[in-house]
Amino acid sequence: MELHVHDSHEGVSRTAAETVSDTVSENPGANLLLPTGSTPRGMYRELVRLYREGGLSLSDTTIFNLDEYLGIPRDHPESYRRYMQENLYRHVDADPARTHIPDAETPAPEEECLRYDAAIKETGGADLCVLGIGRNGHIGFNEPGSPFSSRTRVMGLAESTRRANAEGFDAGAAPEQAITVGMQTIFESRKVLLLASGPEKAEAVAAAVEGEVSPQTPASMLREHPDVTFLLDREAASALRREVA
Ligand code: PGA
Repeated sequence: MELHVHDSHEGVSRTAAETVSDTVSENPGANLLLPTGSTPRGMYRELVRLYREGGLSLSDTTIFNLDEYLGIPRDHPESYRRYMQENLYRHVDADPARTHIPDAETPAPEEECLRYDAAIKETGGADLCVLGIGRNGHIGFNEPGSPFSSRTRVMGLAESTRRANAEGFDAGAAPEQAITVGMQTIFESRKVLLLASGPEKAEAVAAAVEGEVSPQTPASMLREHPDVTFLLDREAASALRREVA
């Protein structure tokens, strides 16, 4: 694995956006597996800037999202479908027929998971997967205990995740369940980039980078991937024992 530490969150966002942009420049028909949450907002802002400056087109690119809450309206302000519209799609030339996110309102979640996983597989897997990391080490919504062999499925969210993501939900917590792509689905991506910023991620990052490789810290399993880079800011890197440049 590679570890890059930037002085600021902005550096993480810029480098992440450049990696996405380089992937798409080399192969306009690339398949991307992309995250939501507060961490990647800066990356999306940078991608929009690159598009406006004429250096990026997403018109031939296929984009899958990692996850979506289950049982909320598709256009709920906190749905990840809305997030992608607001943060990326309404500003760029992405083709709606090539953008995918699990259906939050599906009456048949198990079928939806199978359909979504098969759709990613049909594209040949992701050329680039960009991830955030939860305070408990989750990636996508693969909470602690997620086996390496897991594929897209319904996941009960950890209480800490529901609280961390509570903003915008009336109940004071995020929904109880989500659909997430699985660990193996993530692993089948040719290149993986994990972004982490801020002191609240330091323990999870240290466990992922220097702890035991274990389903208890799903992000630690990425160390077995042949092409994974952790992009951190100084605060997110602050609990690492190793020297960071
Ligand atoms: P955050 O979420 O970027 O909102 O901190 C990260 C995650 O839970 O994967």
